[in-house]
Amino acid sequence: MRAVDLIRKKRDGQELTSEEIAFLVKGYSEGQIPDYQMSAWAMAVYYQGMSARETADLTMAMAGSGDTIDLSSIRGIKVDKHSTGGVGDKTTVVLGPLVAAAGVPVAKMSGRGLGHTGGTIDKLEAISGFSVELTKEQFFRQVNEIGLAVVGQSGNMTPADKKLYALRDVTATVDSIPLIASSVMSKKIAAGADAIVLDVKTGSGAFMKTLEDSIRLAKAMVDIGTQVGRRTVAVISDMDQPLGHAIGNALEIKEAVATLRGDGPADLEEVCLILASHMLILGGKASSEEEAKAMLAEQIKSGQALEKLKQMVAAQGGNTEQIGRPELLPEAELKVDVKATAGGYVESIQAEEIGLAAMMLGAGRETKESVIDLAAGVELRKKIGDPVEAGETLAVLHLNRSHETGLAEAQRRILNAYGISSTKVPRRPLVFALVTPDGIKRF
Ligand code: URA
Repeated sequence: MRAVDLIRKKRDGQELTSEEIAFLVKGYSEGQIPDYQMSAWAMAVYYQGMSARETADLTMAMAGSGDTIDLSSIRGIKVDKHSTGGVGDKTTVVLGPLVAAAGVPVAKMSGRGLGHTGGTIDKLEAISGFSVELTKEQFFRQVNEIGLAVVGQSGNMTPADKKLYALRDVTATVDSIPLIASSVMSKKIAAGADAIVLDVKTGSGAFMKTLEDSIRLAKAMVDIGTQVGRRTVAVISDMDQPLGHAIGNALEIKEAVATLRGDGPADLEEVCLILASHMLILGGKASSEEEAKAMLAEQIKSGQALEKLKQMVAAQGGNTEQIGRPELLPEAELKVDVKATAGGYVESIQAEEIGLAAMMLGAGRETKESVIDLAAGVELRKKIGDPVEAGETLAVLHLNRSHETGLAEAQRRILNAYGISSTKVPRRPLVFALVTPDGIKRF
């Protein structure tokens, strides 16, 4: 078999066999196939696409390219959740305890943030002492004992995806639906999930800017799950503005704690309840969304969901006092209001710009090596649909003096991010569609 023949075959719109896909993935990850050939192949896929079978083959070849986690020593159906990335997305910190409190084990591996999006692992590290590095044995034991653990990715998982993703990044081939779908699903499968709930974001702050593209991506991932025997459903949720009000690590933990107390922003609570209810259904604890939502609401009301977060924090060496009293979490030295220059109604909030503003204040990483400031971030006081008067605060910037050089640029980005209309603006729906193996349900 020769790479050049497989590139030509894909370029001409033909389907590759399972063996041919395995040959490409293995050859590339082991260094026999050079970057220039893999780039040409990725570009051919970009234009010609891949069938559902080819996409599933690519997924499994990448999932098997490195370490895989066997979660079978953990009792119950292990349901993983993945979000395609967003700004202010702290859903894992809310969902993990919520779902675990309702009886579905959550053994979660999460990532760090880069650029305008944050990562769950960085957020959890805002809790002092919290360790995101557990041995496999500690990880399994903790999930069997308390039903919940969230750790960073360790070892050598999906190296073929890492190499191909980095190549796609510099060859304008990231935004190919089969390539994104197989990249995301390979990581979930290598992490050992029995079932997967996907939160596919749509809108200005998301990978997929239009609803139709988001549905297409969701369907490609659900099809992979179905082909490889992992029950998968996808919720298409809004990322035309950040989720909730807080962007930044400690600020997001405070907001997640408030949500677990039943006191969080309505949009964050609703998205969490919807995603969590699908996790309960796939985990075999509920048979309908209504039943699941009622069970979850009870976990919040009774305090069990918050208690579950405290248990996880204690088990992973963190300071549980900061969960009981979130004002003890890192707090920035300066708080600077960004005020509206004109009155009207908030029409749009460019999520990416808000994420970049938070990064300028130190909340995110510009490069993989940057050290983040856990206290820094942005607190949105106005969301889409809210009335605003000239001179009223749109957002509050939280920063330490060490990041004062980023302040002017952050202020400029926040002002640019807000679109203000003179006429009333309807609130946006939060969830647009549900994609399951049975089909697409639009709301
Ligand atoms: N996220 C991933 O993990 N992979 C992609 O290809 C795109 C987004």
